[in-house]
Amino acid sequence: MRILLIASAFNSLTQRVHTELRSRGHVVGVELALGEDVMRAGVARFEPDLIVAPMLTRAIPEDIWSRHTVLIVHPGPKGDRGPSSLDWAIHEGAEEWGVTVLQAVAEMDAGPIWASVAFTVEPCGKSELYRNEVAAAAVEGVLLAVERFGSGRYRPEPLDYDREDVRGRLRPYHGQEHRRIDWQADDTATVLRKLRSADSQPGVLDEIDGREYFLHGAHPEDELRGKAGELIARREGAVCRATRDGAVWLTQLRARRTPGGPVTYKLPATLVLGELAEALPEVSVKPFVAAGRQTWSELRYREEGEVGYLEFAFPSGAMSTEQCRRLTAAYRAAADRPTSVLVLGPARDFFSNGIHLNVIEAAEDPAQESWENINAMDDLVEAILTTTGKVTVSALAGNAAAGGLMLAIAADEVWCRSAAVLNPHYRLMGLYGSEYWTYTLPRRVGEEQARRLTTEALPVGAAEALRLGLVDRVGGGSAAEFREWTRRQAAELAGSPELAGKLLEKQRWREADEAVKPLARYREEELARMRRNFFEPEEPYHRLRQEFVHKVCPTATPEHIRGEGKLVGSEAGRG
Ligand code: COA
Repeated sequence: MRILLIASAFNSLTQRVHTELRSRGHVVGVELALGEDVMRAGVARFEPDLIVAPMLTRAIPEDIWSRHTVLIVHPGPKGDRGPSSLDWAIHEGAEEWGVTVLQAVAEMDAGPIWASVAFTVEPCGKSELYRNEVAAAAVEGVLLAVERFGSGRYRPEPLDYDREDVRGRLRPYHGQEHRRIDWQADDTATVLRKLRSADSQPGVLDEIDGREYFLHGAHPEDELRGKAGELIARREGAVCRATRDGAVWLTQLRARRTPGGPVTYKLPATLVLGELAEALPEVSVKPFVAAGRQTWSELRYREEGEVGYLEFAFPSGAMSTEQCRRLTAAYRAAADRPTSVLVLGPARDFFSNGIHLNVIEAAEDPAQESWENINAMDDLVEAILTTTGKVTVSALAGNAAAGGLMLAIAADEVWCRSAAVLNPHYRLMGLYGSEYWTYTLPRRVGEEQARRLTTEALPVGAAEALRLGLVDRVGGGSAAEFREWTRRQAAELAGSPELAGKLLEKQRWREADEAVKPLARYREEELARMRRNFFEPEEPYHRLRQEFVHKVCPTATPEHIRGEGKLVGSEAGRG
């Protein structure tokens, strides 16, 4: 089938639906919902059999939905309507929620239902929930709806509030008036719910020391206590704030934009608060201690038998210079442990999205900060590439992009959750890229595919990644199931009689590769290109980065995601 995705952004869910539909043999195109005429032109060009809207914040014009079947993904159970479904679900502490695929009609979210899938609401931020449980339910719902549509026999179920399984309702926009935290009255559970329902957009508007900020990232703290509402500690860029009956960690803040003032964007909380944060006690926690506690820490380390697990979780998957350095130190310590397998990666969500574009944007000298950041990234990758005596494994429970994906493929083995979306390219940010990708990517997929992946700049699903050799193993299920699967695979690998042979072989080919072309040369060549990207004024990187960080809406659908228009007349006969 020819399926056109109309979406407000080519975000992770749209990318996931894109990869899943392509892998089932459909011809998939994308048109961003940048306006009614853009959508009309996209439909006329692509001539779809079916239109799917995985993420849409505006209505589809009537002349499109009256001529084509348009399936809208709504992040709520049957009967739920309105623009803030997930916000309400998290705010009210729903334990189960759903995704419904419904047909576009005149009334928003009120069309006939093609599929509805339930999921369990995990205790996490809205965007993390969206990239995990919501995405899984949405993909299941879309695939079912597409199959039903393709059968030509399925009749979608009209929305009928008298039906017992239609439990949702129309709810209003979830504005700041619902989100406001009363630090004296709200208990920790309420504060967490409010913060999580607003994460990552729009954040909870609040005051700190007389200034207004949007608060982001909320994690409970088990030991620190203080006067309700006061900031009591800092750690790894986050600040800890006391509640009535406990404390929470806030990882990122965004200063409220003043009228006519500069654009503001999310940054590590301590960077935004400056001196105020510096005055707070730095309460560090070692990775192996953090693993056993209910507190915020970017790094956790634990061992099970012969296997070490170094978990990292960077907000937005972005890794600043400091974050890279902290992870490198933790990596070196983990690599020195007497284990035979070292597994790297967060328990859930993003593996990594590469260098921290927001921190770079905020730096006094963004070019210099980009340079420091990529060098810190390269130091980390080099440490992984040169590890001897143990097998390193990257476990991708979630998505990875650009340098963040190249970081993953530095490990000896890459294990990937079937739901992960991988973006093995830097082109869209105007960068050549480093992280030793010119060594690792062709070695995995071959020169030809490496060129295709990095220039085509399309997302790759786990199944395709496995076929290409970009990853070595794929595990299905939820993030928790993938974690358990990884544990079993790692234990098996550590206990396998072939392990010693694998280690010997690893050392041999590293030495052989080094003799052909030293790692230092790859780095030097990549960084020479990156230096130009960062420091030459005509390069597009600084503009592209600023647009990304400032969330500038594109003016047209990028050509590389539009897909092939339908060939007509004599064109169709050629080739
Ligand atoms: N630096 C800073 N912030 C980043 C980031 C980075 N490298 N990568 C992602 N983010 C932020 C996004 O701005 C977004 O912020 P928000 O929560 O305020 O909206 C958040 O992380 C989640 O990313 P989002 O784009 O919504 O996720 P997605 O899964 O829909 O899309 C990508 C994922 C990877 C396609 C997209 O985030 C991207 O292109 N990232 C940049 C990758 C890159 O070029 N890295 C630098 C070169 S190494």
